[in-house]
Amino acid sequence: MTELAKTANPQTDDTVDRLLDDFDHQSADFALHWAEVYGKARANQCPVIHSDEHGGFDAILGYDDVVAAFRDWKTFASERLLDENGIEMEGGVGIPAHVFRIGFLEMDPPQSLNLRRLCNPWFNRNTIDAARPRLSEIMHWAFDNVAEKGQCDVVTDLVTPFQCVSIMDLLGIPLEKWPRYKEVVDQEVAQEESSLEGMQWLLADIFDEIERQTTEGGHGLLAVLASSELEGERLDPELVTELILMFLLGGMDTTIATVGLAVRHLHDTPEDRARLQESPDLIESFVEEVLRFYTPATGMGRTIRTPTTFADQCYERGDRVYLAIASANRDERAFDRADEFVIDRSPNPHMSFGTGTHHCIGSEFARSNTQLFLTTLLSRMPDFEVDVAAAHMVTSIPHARSYLTLPISYGPGRSFGSGDHAWPEFKTDPIRPV
Ligand code: HEM
Repeated sequence: MTELAKTANPQTDDTVDRLLDDFDHQSADFALHWAEVYGKARANQCPVIHSDEHGGFDAILGYDDVVAAFRDWKTFASERLLDENGIEMEGGVGIPAHVFRIGFLEMDPPQSLNLRRLCNPWFNRNTIDAARPRLSEIMHWAFDNVAEKGQCDVVTDLVTPFQCVSIMDLLGIPLEKWPRYKEVVDQEVAQEESSLEGMQWLLADIFDEIERQTTEGGHGLLAVLASSELEGERLDPELVTELILMFLLGGMDTTIATVGLAVRHLHDTPEDRARLQESPDLIESFVEEVLRFYTPATGMGRTIRTPTTFADQCYERGDRVYLAIASANRDERAFDRADEFVIDRSPNPHMSFGTGTHHCIGSEFARSNTQLFLTTLLSRMPDFEVDVAAAHMVTSIPHARSYLTLPISYGPGRSFGSGDHAWPEFKTDPIRPV
């Protein structure tokens, strides 16, 4: 049954109507019924859903509107605006707003582009393609740690160590720190009260690392940023700290989420799993469809910079809007059979990485790691079965749809010998721009 077909049930219909009336993209109920809620609003020709939560905002639903808003940074600001008294208004890309600014994700051109240009070479397709041996080595280390056990958790044992170590390696941060870094990032993303203390530790640790690498050098992006100049001035170490934090926040959970959603889909849909096993070349279109259909990063906030009429609504400076990527990705006007998972969909112009000036800088990295991971899972643990009863999804995180835990069992395989270390012992070259 497609997710939308569930609205045929009157009880579900009531729930959907209630969720439309009291719209809150963060509520646990919405996390269960998001496709029906957005589907019903679009079917009723509603271009936006208004919410009184989090200070009040409009969720923009249609594919064309979401694309247009992403591309119009002059009207839809990612940066935090000042009011007429020069005081910063609630803003940025989080609804509710993040406590602190998140690097160039929460700036606008020209500032955002000047900083982004320094980082682009580390994330472009050629660099990521050339990094495959290194990324494979990290991934096999994660698989080797559990290959002989016959059971493990895809999220906590496999993809989390793989993705976190990959990013820390690209940034050039000592790898033994990855478990503590991930813990703090999780607290921050979940907006837990304990996050403040952890965040203070993390920011201080990144700051110390910047100071150390400014004198001693380093192999990753952190060292490059620490010695970079803009308009003849060295980047302030506090700004570099903010940028490193942005990469940690943006790059860890989103890819982990995508892999979790893909693994669960393969478990639930044996015909797609069989097709992928028969035709491994389908991996690229499969991953794109996972990104569209499940939409791990569900939406982004913006602040109206200049009064405008958009999606049939009038907006004033300071109004907050939420670009509902998850809705755009299921818009029937943009995608045939939008509520069906089509493994070889082509073209697939999903909005899961956004578009325009803030288009995800890590999209090639995320695609490559997700494809690499799933191909390896299907070859090293081809008979894996998810323990569905023990799998838990995150229900309260504002912008991500992901599994907290996803246990699997499989016929025990061979470790290739890199296993049982807290982090991999590398034989390949570090990731570096080509
Ligand atoms: C499947 C995984 C990922 C998804 C779904 C995702 C999603 C997104 C989206 C929707 C945006 C646009 C934000 C906006 O317009 O406000 C974005 C931007 C960004 N992402 Fe990703 N992302 C993923 C992986 C990554 C990775 C692996 C990294 C880094 C290692 C990363 C770093 C960033 C950064 C730094 C930005 C800000 C770009 C800018 O403002 O110019 N992301 N991402």
